[in-house]
Amino acid sequence: MSVPQVLLTAALPAEQRTRLAAVASVTAWQEVHDPSPADLIEIVPEMDGLLTVLSDPVDASVIAAARRLRVVANRAVGYDNVDVGALTARRVPLGNTPGVLTEATADLTMALILAVARRIVATATAARAGEWQSTWDRTSPYGFALTEPGIELHGQTLGIVGLGRIGTAVAARATGFGMRVVAFSPREVSGVERVTLDDLLRSCDVVSLNVPLSETTRHLIGARELALMRRDAILVNTARGDVVDQDALVDALRSGQLAGAGLDVTTPEPLPAEHPLLGFPQCVVLPHIGSVTFRARQRMAELAVDTLLAGLAGQPLPHCVNPEVYQT
Ligand code: GLV
Repeated sequence: MSVPQVLLTAALPAEQRTRLAAVASVTAWQEVHDPSPADLIEIVPEMDGLLTVLSDPVDASVIAAARRLRVVANRAVGYDNVDVGALTARRVPLGNTPGVLTEATADLTMALILAVARRIVATATAARAGEWQSTWDRTSPYGFALTEPGIELHGQTLGIVGLGRIGTAVAARATGFGMRVVAFSPREVSGVERVTLDDLLRSCDVVSLNVPLSETTRHLIGARELALMRRDAILVNTARGDVVDQDALVDALRSGQLAGAGLDVTTPEPLPAEHPLLGFPQCVVLPHIGSVTFRARQRMAELAVDTLLAGLAGQPLPHCVNPEVYQT
């Protein structure tokens, strides 16, 4: 049998690249910008396997062009960049990398909650700009003039939308902070009360979005849902930008309907520098760094290569998104 051809759309650690190169001929996407569907269509016809990242558009046109395709390994837990239906119709398995980035993303979710609740970015930015104010401003009733005083997490209620691996890890961290945790999720987790989405939005001090993006969750949080939230509440999104109707979020922050937001994900990514979300002091926007720790990225690379090698060898993938491709 001829040596399989694989496309690598982003660099790998040397050790993983060596494992791949031992069994396959590797073509690497060399540009720093994301490939477009047209770019991929030019490359994929000869490929047996694709090792992709979440900004690679593996849509129906790319899949149709990839006539020899036997496996796609997406180096992410989310796979909304891939047309899973088109792959399944071709009986091509898709693998993702769950588990290995759970703790990193849950840490970042807590970091965003704290950053917004305690005004960390606004106050640190002011200090850096020479606007350091004494911790006791004697003219202000709360002794703090720079911004509104922060919110204490202990005793507050966190509402988690989506109790998957990451949502559950966020719940554990929040419990350690003395927060009460409720969730809107089909999944049960002990110690976490399940409520309807509307009840969660109405009652929670902090709402954390931890659902995958799908047709069901696209714009799950829109103008109606934001209006249900308390005016002193914080919204944190470490899932996907499109889970929130971003225009409605801008309106809610502008009108004071919402106290603050922490976003690791936006639509689009990168968010243009002039976007209003980047201008609100009560909104912290990060450039999608949930899995950006050395350990998580190392383990994601290893798992993605395991996935690709399993697929090329005709073996079951460690984590297969469309296991129906194996049904006879
Ligand atoms: C990150 O967002 C991922 O899906 O891995």
